[in-house]
Amino acid sequence: MDKLDIQKIRQDFPILNQYVNDEPLVYLDNAATTQKPNQVLACLNDYYHQDNANVHRGVHTLAERATREYEAAREKLRAFIKAKSSKEVLFTRGTTTGLNWVARFAEEVLQPGDEVLISIMEHHSNIIPWQEACRKTGAKLVYAYLKDGQLDMLDFESKINDKTKFVSLAHVSNVLGSVNPVKEAAALAHQHGAYMVVDGAQSAPHMSIDVQNLDCDFYALSGHKMLGPTGIGVLYGKEEILNQMSPVEFGGEMIDFVYEQEASWKELPWKFEAGTPNIAGAIALGAAVDYLENLGMDTIHAYEQDLVRYVLPKLQAIDGLQIYGSQDPSKHSAVIAFNLDGLHPHDVATALDYEGVAVRAGHHCAQPLINHLGISSAARASFYIYNTKEDCDKLIEAIIKAKEFFNGTLKIR
Ligand code: ALA
Repeated sequence: MDKLDIQKIRQDFPILNQYVNDEPLVYLDNAATTQKPNQVLACLNDYYHQDNANVHRGVHTLAERATREYEAAREKLRAFIKAKSSKEVLFTRGTTTGLNWVARFAEEVLQPGDEVLISIMEHHSNIIPWQEACRKTGAKLVYAYLKDGQLDMLDFESKINDKTKFVSLAHVSNVLGSVNPVKEAAALAHQHGAYMVVDGAQSAPHMSIDVQNLDCDFYALSGHKMLGPTGIGVLYGKEEILNQMSPVEFGGEMIDFVYEQEASWKELPWKFEAGTPNIAGAIALGAAVDYLENLGMDTIHAYEQDLVRYVLPKLQAIDGLQIYGSQDPSKHSAVIAFNLDGLHPHDVATALDYEGVAVRAGHHCAQPLINHLGISSAARASFYIYNTKEDCDKLIEAIIKAKEFFNGTLKIR
């Protein structure tokens, strides 16, 4: 598909067709979670109606069917991120779990005096696991900072050295909307013998991903941010590294043999998937991938950039509205955090909700970034494939109305 037929897409998302506070819903909280199309909902429904059984355990027909669908979903995810092998695709609960697994591996690798390099724009899920790994091992957590609302690559380069053992970066910031040069960062990390970890929570839903081209060692994503259900995600890892890693969870399903005092593990990817996995979630995430690929990831990306080019200048034109991240639409993905002078973002978000516009307000699980920006919180509008220019207009209108209301200049008609 070359161009998205948004009205047709919207028909696949029945949840969008509702009124909130007597206004048509304008859902702009997609960085927090996306809505699910009928195709994904039908997939969940069909699975539980027709195929439900545990995977890799039974020889009966339903068990074989469930196993086949679960592994077919893994293959879809492999193709989606262009991994070399489906052995490199581990199903997790989401990005947070994936990053925690990598940090657990880091605890086996890091020595006192080693360094882990992240950026100040990271989500808590790409900070706290590293804080813990450093605390337990005596390694140091080092931050790269910003320039013009984006990662300062000179600062980043100055902080990477032979003590750096892991570099972990968000591909796209969930606050600044900036796209980090993770391929370049991976090359630098590898020059210094460090592992490169990518938090793909905000990139996988919006752009074509090629983990082999990025040459990252790990890449974590969340299904619910890309039209899939909650509680399912993927951790990609290079096969040779995953082979060196110990499983993080132990129990049924991940074992080969169990003796009274010891056990051996299954091969990849199953050695990491202890217990009954989120079978329905994985299969439905496969359906979400089908949906996205049918639209085309490059087409999705181009459409979202078009929305940013439309809405960012309109936001910039609102007097007293601060926008975080780059002010250049070509450097800003479809996540726009902002504040209105003198107003608390929770008040702004509540006023927008009154107009049917759903945005997130708060620290966006990125408190170090929020502190670095010298604010206590921000409002954030984040867009996806079903948002329209009319949604952008409604956002602008609702912000202006909120501003006038709180300034006492709103004329009640
Ligand atoms: N990480 C999600 C967000 O940024 C929850 O809103």
